[in-house]
Amino acid sequence: MLADQAAEHALHERVVQRQGEWARESRGLVDPPLPSDMLQPWEIWDRDLFDLEMIRVFGRSWVWLGDTEDLEKPGDYITGRIGAQPVVVIRQQDGSVKGFLNNCRHRAAGLAFEPAGHCNALACPYHAWTYAIDGKLLSIPDMDRMYGPDFPKEEYGLVPIRIKVAFGKLVFGCLSRRAPAFDEWIAPLLPRYEQYKIHTYRRYHRELDDVYPINWKAFVENSNDDYHVRFVHRRLNKVRKQMDTIVRFEGRTTSGYKPHSDSFDMSAGRTDLNDRDLRGSYAEFIYPNLTPLPYASQLIMVRVDPLAPDRSRIFSRIYGLTDDIELQNRELDGLAQTNKEDTDMVTQLMENLRSPFYRVGPPSAWEGRAQHMMRMIRQDVATPLDPDEFDGPVDKD
Ligand code: FES
Ligand SMILES: [Fe+2]
Repeated sequence: MLADQAAEHALHERVVQRQGEWARESRGLVDPPLPSDMLQPWEIWDRDLFDLEMIRVFGRSWVWLGDTEDLEKPGDYITGRIGAQPVVVIRQQDGSVKGFLNNCRHRAAGLAFEPAGHCNALACPYHAWTYAIDGKLLSIPDMDRMYGPDFPKEEYGLVPIRIKVAFGKLVFGCLSRRAPAFDEWIAPLLPRYEQYKIHTYRRYHRELDDVYPINWKAFVENSNDDYHVRFVHRRLNKVRKQMDTIVRFEGRTTSGYKPHSDSFDMSAGRTDLNDRDLRGSYAEFIYPNLTPLPYASQLIMVRVDPLAPDRSRIFSRIYGLTDDIELQNRELDGLAQTNKEDTDMVTQLMENLRSPFYRVGPPSAWEGRAQHMMRMIRQDVATPLDPDEFDGPVDKD
């Protein structure tokens, strides 16, 4: 076992041992008779566990980074994060889209800084190593004196990552070379998503982007909880035909379908989708951190980016068929309200789960998706990355 793998293994041992000790010592005050796979207090506040999640969950996952509206011309780029790892995605001269770690190969300095921008080359602000948009290291200032003439410059290009442009629009990135192709990653959702014609949806004129004092998994749990919706988001009950939700989970995706009331029509006159898809909506999830809500006339995307055990960024965009700014504002304000209802609730939970004595209760039938996702996260946390996790080409999506 390599030294850094041994260290990663030791980190997991430490986390498991500490969880066991905490659980044992604080046992007895709350004594739930039924088992629960929901998020427990020690999974929220542990810094070591958080560090392990950045490696073992985000190191092997596809993460949504943005869309091609920001990548029209060669040199156009977007930046983002896959867990704790900053990345940059750049449109190439040949029209392809490539992704790289957004770190200089000299020190960890960033190379692209705007959420979206344009560059002819990427010049590091620290010691001015300069990279081409295809990742090649073009120049090192004063190279002969600093490193000598034999310095293997060609070995120090930007580190490539896998990129998938899905549905002709949405950009996803993945660090692992062993993770399944993106289409396989979202296989249970793929046939329906291909029918929405997402490439025809246009991005609304602004987005929602805020940092909250919550753990990313607590938000994932909430996003996959179909039980709270009619209580925490009461104002939305009027657009529902009945309170039932059809809950599904399979592999790395989950889905909760709710039929709309007859007066709430989101079909935009479309007839090319089946009746169920036109007359209701899905709250879905793509492991590990994306909540898409697709409709016949729009797609809402909500992503949670982990920043620290008790801090997460929540980034939301709406894509749709309307260019009416007033209407876009109303819908964005509605989404902001929904996000606030959720983050207020989760913030309160976070504070109460500071107590190691509390034990959370069993998942209801409508929290099956949340339980599924918590199990998947735990399974990845317990599974080391493969020794060849990062070997192989990046051009398989
Ligand atoms: S950190 Fe980029 S050139 Fe030194
Ligand atoms: Fe909610």
